[in-house]
Amino acid sequence: METSVQVAVRVRPKNSRETMLYENVITCENDSVKIIDSEKFIEKSFHKVFGPESSQEEVYNFIAPLVDSCDKGISSAILAYGQTGSGKTHTMFGQPQVYGIIPRIFSHLFQVISSDYTVLFSMIQVYTEQIYDMLQDSKLVSPLTIRQDPIFGIYIPNLTEYVVQSPEDGLSLILKGETNRVIRSTKLSSTSSRSHMICQITIESTRPNEKGNLSRSKMQLCDLAGSERIEKNQINNETMKEAININKALCTLGSVIYALKRKNMKYVPYRDSKLTYLLKESLEGNTRLYLIATLSPSSIQSSESISTLRFASAAKEISLNAKVNEISVADNKLIQRLQKEIKYLKDCMRVNKNTENLHQKLWELQQENDRLKEGMGDFDMGKILEENNKMKIQLKKIMEMTGNNFDFGEIDRDELDKFCDRFQSAQTNRNSTPLASSDLNSKQIEVRIRSKNNSVERRVTNFHRTFEQQEKDREMIDRISLNQKRLRKIEQIEQFRELRVKEAVEKYEQSKQLEMDVLKKTEAAKEKQFSEMNIKKLREIENARKVMEKAEMEKERALQDLMRIRQRKQDRSPLVSAATQQIFLPKIN
Ligand SMILES: Nc1ncnc2c1ncn2[C@@H]1O[C@H](COP(=O)(O)OP(=O)(O)OP(=O)(O)O)[C@@H](O)[C@H]1O
Ligand SMILES: [Mg+2]
Repeated sequence: METSVQVAVRVRPKNSRETMLYENVITCENDSVKIIDSEKFIEKSFHKVFGPESSQEEVYNFIAPLVDSCDKGISSAILAYGQTGSGKTHTMFGQPQVYGIIPRIFSHLFQVISSDYTVLFSMIQVYTEQIYDMLQDSKLVSPLTIRQDPIFGIYIPNLTEYVVQSPEDGLSLILKGETNRVIRSTKLSSTSSRSHMICQITIESTRPNEKGNLSRSKMQLCDLAGSERIEKNQINNETMKEAININKALCTLGSVIYALKRKNMKYVPYRDSKLTYLLKESLEGNTRLYLIATLSPSSIQSSESISTLRFASAAKEISLNAKVNEISVADNKLIQRLQKEIKYLKDCMRVNKNTENLHQKLWELQQENDRLKEGMGDFDMGKILEENNKMKIQLKKIMEMTGNNFDFGEIDRDELDKFCDRFQSAQTNRNSTPLASSDLNSKQIEVRIRSKNNSVERRVTNFHRTFEQQEKDREMIDRISLNQKRLRKIEQIEQFRELRVKEAVEKYEQSKQLEMDVLKKTEAAKEKQFSEMNIKKLREIENARKVMEKAEMEKERALQDLMRIRQRKQDRSPLVSAATQQIFLPKIN
């Protein structure tokens, strides 16, 4: 069914600075938007217009039909386009309490699909014309490449795709990915996105339909980086490079949209930027495409708002013909691709030194931990502190007795010696009761406390290190178990598909055998018919030959009779001339 790109415009509320300094130049009426600013004027209508007071829910309802039909194998895409600071990220992601489109999609999606579907999620950002995995590469160190596959279309090798089993899984992945997005504070927004972000949700059926095919649809959810005026005094190289790349990609997107709008254009410059190449399948017409153009209401951005409206209006004229994506379970290429994927996952597991090793390591660490804990029994911090306190109290008593002030925190060896000497003499002078042997030598007490403290500290540090190591290993194991889950799922699908292929091959062979049997029978029947006909013909020939022989014999006999008659005639009239004989006698051949 032919449709056009569905376009909505969303005007955000003014922020406090704009309220103080700038006029409002935008008016929304039903589904049309008007910008009037001194000599500038534009009015355009769209499928939907959301004013500054519109809620996230209302905006979500506009794109909700895409999710309603996501299990039918029809791919879709949502693009948020607009000037920097106009509200794209707010619309696509939002914040807790006011979540935007992407988090809402997950809760809606799991109400629509049954357990016969697998949901995969990946998140990428295009930063300065390089593609990065947002769920893996927080430091932007491993740029990825784009490839094209006859079955799976455009894809990114080595991009991690996570299996999402609940809305919560989806939300936690989105939040994780968002923390890796390149953002910067600009004049218009303190958290301006400096990369184009694409979230991809793939919905695959695991149960073939009546035609034996599996449906597969992809949702591309794109929060673009906002265009920005590059100013002469923008001397920071990095921000300048970012802005140039953002504007270049948006410019290519504009060229693609205008080329598609003109319909008869032979060349559409998809490959001129990574962004448009990644969005190629969504833009070229086989998907359902929604565009949300965001606007700032204030006069300071009226020129940019006008160009956004022109872009959105051009997009509205692009016609689409969304197709159902189905893959035959018996498709060799699909099986090859899945086998490749399984091999890749298995390799990953091997790189991670395989799970068994990790389990072994974790077990060893746990054992070590237990041993340390047992050892800690002797050096129980509580006990030591208690002992420390007791000693301090005893020392204090001694100090009171000797009348000396002594700071226990930093014990100076000389000071302590002096103190002990004084204490000894005081003891002798006062002739008081001697203290218990354990209390006698303060140096020994201090050394003992210190050595115990040090030993405990060492053990506590070791314990922490071991604990941290265990945490890391546990994270690794979590990742591996996630990989295993995915692998299991893929293996299940593969087994299922193999089974179907086997069945299909068996059926094919059976029908071939049947055909051969029929052919053989037909040939045998034909041969029989042929030989019967031949026998009949031979018989006919034989009969004809017999008839001819008979005729020949009769002819021979007739000739002989004739000869005899001639002979008799000649005998009776010898005057008949040879010439006369020639005339009257019939010619015998
Ligand atoms: N509809 C809205 N309601 C309330 N606040 C909004 C709305 N739209 C945007 N904002 C606020 O405006 C600010 C800028 O919005 P946002 O970051 O979404 O802009 P952006 O278009 O993504 O900009 P950039 O292209 O620079 O990334 C944010 O603080 C955001 O919370
Ligand atoms: Mg943004």
